[in-house]
Amino acid sequence: AGISLWGGRFTGGPADALAALSVSTHFDWRLARYDIAGSRAHAHALHAADLLDDAQLDGMLDALRRLEDDVVSGAFAPTPADEDVHTALERGLMERAGAELGGRLRAGRSRNDQIATLIRMYLRDQARHLAGLVLDVVDALIDQAAAAGEAIMPGRTHMQHAQPVLVAHQLLAHAWPLMRDVQRLQDWDARAAVSPYGSGALAGNTLGLDPDAVAAELGFDAACENSIDGTSARDTVAEISFILAMTAVDISRLAEEIIIWNTKEFDFVTLADSFSTGSSIMPQKKNPDVAELARGKAGRLIGDLAGLLATLKALPLAYDRDLQEDKEPVFDAVDTLAVLLPAVSGMIATMRLNYERMAALAPQGFSLATDIAEWLVKQGVPFRQAHELSGACVRECERRGVELWELTDADFAAIDPQLTPQVRTVLSVQGSVAARAGHGGTAPVRVVEQLARAIECSAEL
Ligand code: ARG
Repeated sequence: AGISLWGGRFTGGPADALAALSVSTHFDWRLARYDIAGSRAHAHALHAADLLDDAQLDGMLDALRRLEDDVVSGAFAPTPADEDVHTALERGLMERAGAELGGRLRAGRSRNDQIATLIRMYLRDQARHLAGLVLDVVDALIDQAAAAGEAIMPGRTHMQHAQPVLVAHQLLAHAWPLMRDVQRLQDWDARAAVSPYGSGALAGNTLGLDPDAVAAELGFDAACENSIDGTSARDTVAEISFILAMTAVDISRLAEEIIIWNTKEFDFVTLADSFSTGSSIMPQKKNPDVAELARGKAGRLIGDLAGLLATLKALPLAYDRDLQEDKEPVFDAVDTLAVLLPAVSGMIATMRLNYERMAALAPQGFSLATDIAEWLVKQGVPFRQAHELSGACVRECERRGVELWELTDADFAAIDPQLTPQVRTVLSVQGSVAARAGHGGTAPVRVVEQLARAIECSAEL
């Protein structure tokens, strides 16, 4: 066995089966540089409390610097005997600083306040990185929306033709939730910017160490107000897990539309070869695997969140070893999005939209029926009756197998005299979208404004 952190009370090392269960270096080693940064701040706190003299502080910082270099280069790595990232780095420190000096660093801290701090530092960095990747998807959507101009497509509810909308409107409808996900990550950061260091095992430290100074050195806004909360809370981890899962779910809804648009039947979109895959048996196949993996991986992130919440449920305060189980799910969520998002933004940026096909389908399925009803309302007809009359037009069209604009003036008049020839003015998709001119509507004048605001919003995030 390697060095033990608790030799004094024990007569022997851990059983192999315990060591195998307990070990976490295969996943927590990614926190090594944060642990070293924490150790540096802790060494300063010990020095400020007169527990390290100037020479000892210099020696400690020098050893930590060499240790960090070796961690970065790979010259130092955990061995199977190291239980976790903290154990391994303590061994590395002792090897470099010697047992006399190296053995002083652990005073006044516990792995409980260490790990609670490191996971926040790590996740704060990852949140910034992932927010940038989400914004790449947003920018790809914004670029496609700008390129789509005034192109029109069928808007759907219940997957049925509902009302025509601008292609740009539909694409931006996916950009806004993703921008809110980025805002969520930024809001989360304010709560994550609180340092548990100095909480010790659970009750605080006796050595006069200053948690606020450590917090400031590690880039936090403040030290936590309660050492028990500091060491045992994981809501910060659960909250970012939710935000990451929500992001994946938002991406999956976009992905699902692309999968549908990419079918032969829809033929709304052609994916670039570089973002499509083939089949090992069917030579003709070109599959939307990026979108399908996006859809699939959303399930995985939901599982990561659910697993973490299940670990936390009814877990008594303060630290329990169960809390070690917070890491793999949230790391999985981070890693999954880090590979998924660049593929999604690449797929969006390189896909070709088939505007002619979309325009041809936009008026079909009686998608202008609401326009007839609302035109009647503008003529003073109560909406209830207008809805009935427009429905009667649809029924007549279905009976004859024609579209609404194929009804003659006489047909309209026969349905109801209030349906004068003027009704034709709204029987085009251009007229339909142009009429939806309120704030947030799909009229080209509004969508141009929306696009400008989306560009502004994404630039500010
Ligand atoms: N590896 C542990 C974790 O991830 C660190 C804290 C261990 N503390 C303890 N008292 N066993 O949670």
